[in-house]
Amino acid sequence: MVEGNQKFTVKNLFNVEDWAVVITGGATGIGLMMAQAFANNGARVYITSRRQESLEQAAKTWGSSLVHPKGKLIPIQADITSKPSIENLVKEIRKNEKCIDVLINNAGISVGSSEVEKGHEGAEELSKELFSEEQKLWEDVYRTNVIGYFFTTVAFLPLLSAASKVRPSHTAAVINNTSMSGITRTTQHHYKYNVSKGAAIHLNTLLAQELRRPGVKVRVNSVAPGIFPSEMTTNESNEANKSEIPTDESYGEKKGIPAGRPGAEEDMAQLILSMAVNEYLYGQTIALDGGYLLEHP
Ligand SMILES: NC(=O)c1ccc[n+]([C@@H]2O[C@H](COP(=O)([O-])OP(=O)(O)OC[C@H]3O[C@@H](n4cnc5c(N)ncnc54)[C@H](OP(=O)(O)O)[C@@H]3O)[C@@H](O)[C@H]2O)c1
Repeated sequence: MVEGNQKFTVKNLFNVEDWAVVITGGATGIGLMMAQAFANNGARVYITSRRQESLEQAAKTWGSSLVHPKGKLIPIQADITSKPSIENLVKEIRKNEKCIDVLINNAGISVGSSEVEKGHEGAEELSKELFSEEQKLWEDVYRTNVIGYFFTTVAFLPLLSAASKVRPSHTAAVINNTSMSGITRTTQHHYKYNVSKGAAIHLNTLLAQELRRPGVKVRVNSVAPGIFPSEMTTNESNEANKSEIPTDESYGEKKGIPAGRPGAEEDMAQLILSMAVNEYLYGQTIALDGGYLLEHP
């Protein structure tokens, strides 16, 4: 009878000990929160992004004091907009791992914004403002937030698929960090970012459909965060690679967030672990937004 109860313990339900996890953009912001969630519970977490010093800083600061003795933060430099760089990343990880349990496509950018949001501009003014946006920035955002997710996922497929062969009944998970910005009908001053995130959500659905096939057996889901502290949202991070969003009592009302605050590290950690370990979850996009989308559908 005890065994029938044992499986319901948090330790058993969220067991990621000895898992191999890859997180793009894992040295700062949301990626680092996710990396700490896995590594503090015994996973080997490969964090990857373009700035070597930022990766090393994250690994040194947080990897040296992990709560679980088996946990690791392992930095490897890679640029997800470059196919050779992605190939090299897979090659490096293959040296140590027979399979990957979780790939989190998290690295993303948001560049440039417009002044327009449900304003009262006339056609001339609106046209001028929006036409002045740079085409190249649209391409840069799409290249990272959509194309980078696609090529990273397909490059890791053999290692991901191998997880179900190493442990039968286990399926590896791809988790795409998309955004509530890909769901809301509000431009939030950045059309290009929101369009890229909408595309990433559809990419998530298409990959989920294709990768469930018996010869691959990989689950694909997406988390669509609301506002979380990161370099993207605050333009900076401290010596521990952490960022902070200043808030006051009116924050929730001003931003239209029923939770009244930005997302916290624990909020992200709880969801990302659930999405990784829950092997019945297929093809979903889960908004983690403190209720933002209820106010900005
Ligand atoms: N924070 C939020 O409120 C929020 C809300 C919804 C969704 N998101 C999404 O969450 C993800 C993480 O962003 P964040 O908010 O945590 O911001 P962040 O702190 O700026 O993290 C983004 C990370 O991506 C890396 N990166 C960017 N381009 C890359 C490339 N070409 N190759 C490899 N790595 C690259 C960056 O490192 P390098 O510059 O060193 O490469 C950085 O570590 C993004 O996809 C973002 O769109 C964020």
